[in-house]
Amino acid sequence: MTEHDINTDVLIVGTGPMGVATALALATYGIDCLAITKYNALSTTPRAHITNQRTMEVLRDLDVADEVSLYASDWDTMGDSLITTSLAGPEIARIRAWGTGDDRRTEYLSASPTPMADIPQPYLENVLIRNAAARGARIRYGTEYLSHTQDADGVTVLVRDRASQSEITVRAKFLVGADGAQSQVARDAGLPVVGDMGRASTAYVSFAADLTRYVEHRPSILYWIASPAAQYGEIGLGLLRAVRPWTEWIAGWGFDPTAGEPDFSSAALTTRITALIGADDVDIQIKGVSTWKVNQAYATAYSAGRVFCGGDAVHRHPPSNGLGSNTSIQDGYNLAWKLAFVIRGHAGLGLLESYSEERSPIGKQIVERANRSRLDFAALTNVIGGAKKPYSASTVVDIINDPGPEGADIRARLTAALDLKNYEFNAHGVEMNQRYRSPAIVAGAPAASANPTTDPELYYVPSVEPGAKIPHAWLVNARGRRISTLDIVGQGRFTLVTGLSGGVWREAVEALRLPYLSLAVIGKLDAADLYRDWDRAAKLADDAALLVRPDGYIAWSSMTAPKTAEAATALLRDTIRSVLSVEESA
Ligand code: FDA
Repeated sequence: MTEHDINTDVLIVGTGPMGVATALALATYGIDCLAITKYNALSTTPRAHITNQRTMEVLRDLDVADEVSLYASDWDTMGDSLITTSLAGPEIARIRAWGTGDDRRTEYLSASPTPMADIPQPYLENVLIRNAAARGARIRYGTEYLSHTQDADGVTVLVRDRASQSEITVRAKFLVGADGAQSQVARDAGLPVVGDMGRASTAYVSFAADLTRYVEHRPSILYWIASPAAQYGEIGLGLLRAVRPWTEWIAGWGFDPTAGEPDFSSAALTTRITALIGADDVDIQIKGVSTWKVNQAYATAYSAGRVFCGGDAVHRHPPSNGLGSNTSIQDGYNLAWKLAFVIRGHAGLGLLESYSEERSPIGKQIVERANRSRLDFAALTNVIGGAKKPYSASTVVDIINDPGPEGADIRARLTAALDLKNYEFNAHGVEMNQRYRSPAIVAGAPAASANPTTDPELYYVPSVEPGAKIPHAWLVNARGRRISTLDIVGQGRFTLVTGLSGGVWREAVEALRLPYLSLAVIGKLDAADLYRDWDRAAKLADDAALLVRPDGYIAWSSMTAPKTAEAATALLRDTIRSVLSVEESA
């Protein structure tokens, strides 16, 4: 043993979505890891909830998607985003949201084997950490990160056990900073962060109330309320968010932090929530109060040597679009297989540099998107409030229903303002179009299936181009059951995907005998393209090959097979070495 108190391959600081997803993936890949959190519990506030299709695909690969679905509200319940004067009062508008509208439904369903879901953060973290622990991850509560130093072989981390106040050293090969928006790990590692923190403040109040009669017939997870009770701030609307349909809720509204702490007494909160509901006969039980600040900041590099940060530690933004937890989980998923390959000796340290190269442009994009979406509410509130701010429910209704030319103009502007909100509530492209460029992706043929004419923020563009994730298509297995193309890749392994005519690729995979490389032949009995969906989606020759990474991303493609098995073997070997950053002599 060394002089350190604890030894592990990977120390993860934080058990939020980034930390638990990283621990779960590493444990699934059989890597020794320890996740610590300074608190004695997981998240107790239901912050994140919208869980997008890409995240559900990640959870499917990690074999927890079914369990997550047990605790989630289903896709249909996520429903419309409503804009109303109060829950009981006149409605102003509805936005078909999260792809559940008739116009987008088929696109969403065709894009992925799994729909979106709505799961409050405490439930999600619980499922992930439980499975991580069951698969061998060590978890330590009440343990606070203090500092770290790194050398050529590893990282020495000083932590404090908060119960005994004793300091403990942990020696790890790698350190993962998943310690949230105030990340000390990112600061200590010197990661450059650009942008601003704390632009605006929002109050979030959890409460229990049976609101079934107001909402059951128009399911939604987000009811936006145009009311004098909640007009302050960039959004200018109050929010009633269904946490557990339809009895557990959050009420949210903006407040001016320079005016001191808002009145959070039970009486004041009940009065405000009653106004948002619009009925004074509802029994409201206040459960908790929290506040959060609007940030617009991101790190331009996610790693320094053996230290890697992800999640809110490197992208800090408001909840608009519901991207924070989703992106954090996807950061962890991108990082975990790379750490596993390096720790196992399958890859060179260079592979780890691709983590920052691949994920940091996405962090920047989502920070900008979430902040833009928040500010875009101004178009809506300017229309419904007009010049009459602060407005009352009746002035809003008068403005919207004015039969004169002014009213007609306002209604036309309302349609445009609502359409703009598709960039928040139906931004399928933001969620699914993430493309990677790094040395762990070998440039290949141009994308046959990309359609540059669609808006890449609104619409998913499936692609078999290297740097895109393998498109989903339904196949049929030997038992006649539907499986996704995503089900024949992943699980911590590289997969060479080819067609029935790609015989030399099979010989190449067999010749290389790499413990982490599988072959998937689409068209064989266990992966039959009976619907021809894959053929239509991929538009590839039958002897083409895609090298798919453990995270489902296409690392390299060959549009046709070499003439001989020897040539295919040499090509594949060189490609894999390049992707994994393996030295020529290794
Ligand atoms: P997170 O902050 O969750 O976790 C940090 C962890 O680090 C904690 O375990 C903490 O104890 C630990 N820690 C910190 N310092 C430490 C130290 N020194 N030592 C040890 N441990 C330490 N996202 C989404 O995808 N969909 C959504 O619908 C929403 N909705 C939403 C609503 C609201 C109101 C908010 C405020 C946020 C959202 N989000 C969201 C965002 C989401 O909540 C957020 O992005 C994730 O929690 C970030 O996960 P992380 O794991 O990065 O950090």
